Amino acid sequence: MIRLDANRVLVTGGAGFLGSHLCDRLIAEGEDVLCLDNFYTGIKRNVEHLMGRPGFELIRHGVTFPLYLEVDRIYNLACPASPVHYQFDPVQTTKTSVHGAINMLGLAKRVKALILQASTSEVYGDPEVHPQPESYWGRVNPIGIRSCYDEGKRCAETLFFDYHRQHQLEIKVIRIFNTYGPRMHPNDGRVVSNFIVQALKGKDITIYGSGQQTRSFCYVDDLIDGMVRMMNSDPAFIGPVNIGNPGEFTMLELAELILKIVGGKSKLVFEPLPQDDPKQRQPDIALAQSALSWEPKVKLEDGLKETVSYFKTILAI
Ligand SMILES: NC(=O)c1ccc[n+]([C@@H]2O[C@H](COP(=O)([O-])OP(=O)(O)OC[C@H]3O[C@@H](n4cnc5c(N)ncnc54)[C@H](O)[C@@H]3O)[C@@H](O)[C@H]2O)c1
Repeated sequence: MIRLDANRVLVTGGAGFLGSHLCDRLIAEGEDVLCLDNFYTGIKRNVEHLMGRPGFELIRHGVTFPLYLEVDRIYNLACPASPVHYQFDPVQTTKTSVHGAINMLGLAKRVKALILQASTSEVYGDPEVHPQPESYWGRVNPIGIRSCYDEGKRCAETLFFDYHRQHQLEIKVIRIFNTYGPRMHPNDGRVVSNFIVQALKGKDITIYGSGQQTRSFCYVDDLIDGMVRMMNSDPAFIGPVNIGNPGEFTMLELAELILKIVGGKSKLVFEPLPQDDPKQRQPDIALAQSALSWEPKVKLEDGLKETVSYFKTILAI
């Protein structure tokens, strides 16, 4: 489909897990997509099926450096999302969130583009409030090993709201909760990919702590739908809005579900919890339900089946 009224949409971090699914969705809707990435954690294979499609362009660039492009909309997703990756070069992680936000907000201001920030549930830190509504200010350690990501993302939110107040920039902020699905990085150290890869390789499944800590898991298609709805929402609604799946599962339940799907004989083994690991994290999505008419639809078992099939293909390469 080629649309004459298509938006020119910049997706930073477009070759990553979420960014590549967003590019798919925007191209399917007939938008012109500029996918920008420095390939720190993203890979070309995630978007190679879009190469040569009308309206799709791939740009190698780091958001910590300014750039000038004529665009109508910006989705700012550039930032490594998994602890293994963002702790590998923590100074660069903060720079990506903070300098990246400054550069993308500056671009949006110059070309009068609408800009959406992919923020995170990590802004809530290790929360005392459960589930977390957007009004909760969070409990974040400013000097811990996760701070480069958590505080970088908090500062980016501050910049978004100050550009809005000071320069009347049109902004949107979503707080993404744990999302999984095809094109997750197999070595990103996150629990879904860890468990699936271990189960597919017939290795023991590593559970940190007692396995009673809970997480909620949102399937990528649901997440992208929420993100696009937010971008298209009433200009007066700027967020922040939680996008995630409130269904809560213990790590033991997740491991057992993955073992049921994969089969095999992996055993569960227990290791100590990493520093600052939150015990519980669950989105309150009442605002997304009322303001965006959005709620997740994909059941954990169905989403995990899709994810397992993806990992089977990439582990066979
Ligand atoms: N996946 C989740 O569960 C989750 C949860 C909360 C928030 N988020 C946010 O969503 C966004 C996308 O996350 P993801 O899971 O797709 O992670 P990802 O690591 O797969 O994608 C991030 C992308 O950004 C690129 N990137 C990193 N630094 C860059 C820079 N300086 N310049 C240009 N590109 C750069 C990477 O190469 C990668 O393609 C991130 O901002 C992340 O913080 C994700």
